[in-house]
Amino acid sequence: MTRRLPSSVLSTLESAGDVDVFQGGAMPAAALRARIAGKDALVSLVTDTVDRAVIDAAPGLKIVANVAVGYNNVDVAYARSRGIVVTHTPDVLTDAVADLTWAMILGITRRIGEAERLVRRGEWTGWALDFMLGADLRGRQLGIVGLGRIGRAVAARGEAFGMRIVYAPRPGGAASGGASADAAAGWEPMSFDRLLNTSDVVSLHVPLTPRGPVVDEAALVWALEQHLIAGAALDVYEREPQIDPRLLQFENVLLLPHVGSATSGTRTAMAQLAADNVAAVLSGRPAITPVP
Ligand code: GLV
Repeated sequence: MTRRLPSSVLSTLESAGDVDVFQGGAMPAAALRARIAGKDALVSLVTDTVDRAVIDAAPGLKIVANVAVGYNNVDVAYARSRGIVVTHTPDVLTDAVADLTWAMILGITRRIGEAERLVRRGEWTGWALDFMLGADLRGRQLGIVGLGRIGRAVAARGEAFGMRIVYAPRPGGAASGGASADAAAGWEPMSFDRLLNTSDVVSLHVPLTPRGPVVDEAALVWALEQHLIAGAALDVYEREPQIDPRLLQFENVLLLPHVGSATSGTRTAMAQLAADNVAAVLSGRPAITPVP
């Protein structure tokens, strides 16, 4: 384990074998390469780069259990070529991430960060009819890019806000089933370009693939400077934990520190699912949630 996990989770792993837990915060790459030698399983976090060097340092490795739904930190193709199972933690974080997405949508449309900063600066002078006006959501169009598990959960919440739902299927991709249910829900598929052109709110729910970061932060700064978009909310970044400093200057940008799944219940469930995957694979059973 590259980090301490909840004690309930630790006991699952202890029943599966001897557990070596790195204790010092984020695990340096060199320490990971050194400590993984001789291990059967690795429980990794999104901050751990599990590349060829790490995998080659552990000839007996059977499973990499990533405590995240994303797995861009793991060289999955190389792991597979070595017969190593890679697992992730889908489903258990869907609601927490969809909830945070709505906090971000409301944060921008109702100018929550900007309003709160003004109050803290002592600049609020009293109620006014035209003060701090935001945008309504009812009747507006919500464009979901990537209608997988999380995209669907965000769309369902959008219906409760009275929004019209459209979505762009992942290029070349595998939406995770349910196309006919989406049609029945009245959610309209459309091209990515048309979605961008016609939506009032666009919400991105695609994985980070080798084709590159999902949001080009320099382009986003340009679009904000040109007033091409009314605002932006980000929870993940191109070079975490660095953030393009120009983004910090905009009142209409909401910047969160990669906390989409950060509730105690959800993080415990993610860690438990990773541990259950390890226990399954080490006892010769199939992984519960292998990466697709
Ligand atoms: C976090 O980014 C995750 O993929 O779970």
